Amino acid sequence: MDNSIAMNESGYSSKSGVSSDALGERKISGTVGEVKVADARMTCRDVNVYYGNKHAIIDVSLDIGKNEVIAMIGPSGCGKSTFLRCLNRMNDTIDGCRVNGRIKLDTQDIYDPQMDVVPLRVRVGMVFQKPNPFPKSIYENVAYGPRIHGLAGNKIDLDEIVETSLRKAGLWEEVKDRLDQPGTGLSGGQQQRLCIARTIAVSPEVILMDEPCSALDPIATAKVEELIDELREHYTIAIVTHSMQQAARVSQRTAYFHLGNLVEVGETTQIFTNPRHRLTEDYITGRFG
Ligand SMILES: Nc1ncnc2c1ncn2[C@@H]1O[C@H](COP(=O)(O)OP(=O)(O)O)[C@@H](O)[C@H]1O
Ligand SMILES: [Mg+2]
Repeated sequence: MDNSIAMNESGYSSKSGVSSDALGERKISGTVGEVKVADARMTCRDVNVYYGNKHAIIDVSLDIGKNEVIAMIGPSGCGKSTFLRCLNRMNDTIDGCRVNGRIKLDTQDIYDPQMDVVPLRVRVGMVFQKPNPFPKSIYENVAYGPRIHGLAGNKIDLDEIVETSLRKAGLWEEVKDRLDQPGTGLSGGQQQRLCIARTIAVSPEVILMDEPCSALDPIATAKVEELIDELREHYTIAIVTHSMQQAARVSQRTAYFHLGNLVEVGETTQIFTNPRHRLTEDYITGRFG
């Protein structure tokens, strides 16, 4: 099945009047806007993803910049989660899913057959839609990763990693007196911050978040959003969200996906105030999706 977007002769909407320039861009990536950044942490080029015959991601090229939060938005089913999972090879775990193209973390090709996915997923961690703490204590949820990856020499080191990670996740004050209690006993918002602490505990470089607030109430959401902004200082974050308000609040760059295509990418303020592609405009003004 061909999923590519029907485009007019100039390649892009007449609205934007960017045809000649966009035509040049289309040859490179099919995307309006600058897919490259000066300080890239991850570079994705000509990425295609298939589930059997279904072409779910079509020729996507995109850089993810150091210490930036990039938001991935678009209607349900447009491929946001699929693309996010490419970044730490989580699609490998899905039967019948094929990924091709080139994705690098710094200079390293993450799809190199020599690449060990276990350390890759430490360097590129992931936080899921539904908080999924292990059925273990709060302490163990955070200590587990550092322990299995040998990041702590002794109990004192491990205690320190647990405390630091919980502090960075903004959860320490709420849980410091009950570290031995089950992680699953926390509220939803606390559980999600626990999952973020667990991700941070193994010192990732990039954190992928797939709709991390969609199961949270507005107050818990606000806390997680605040946290994302603080984490940017130390990490690179790619976040999928169905909330345009959230994308506008937390990200510096926004990528708009539509039917597996990366239609437009740009500074978040530009995407929300002055989208260049008609499809982006339709989505952000609520005419679509
Ligand atoms: N495991 C899977 N098997 C087959 N098709 C899938 C699978 N996961 C996603 N898809 C399809 O790929 C497309 C993109 O899905 P997804 O990445 O989940 O979109 P989004 O996160 O934007 O809602 C959809 O058409 C979806 O039905
Ligand atoms: Mg999704």
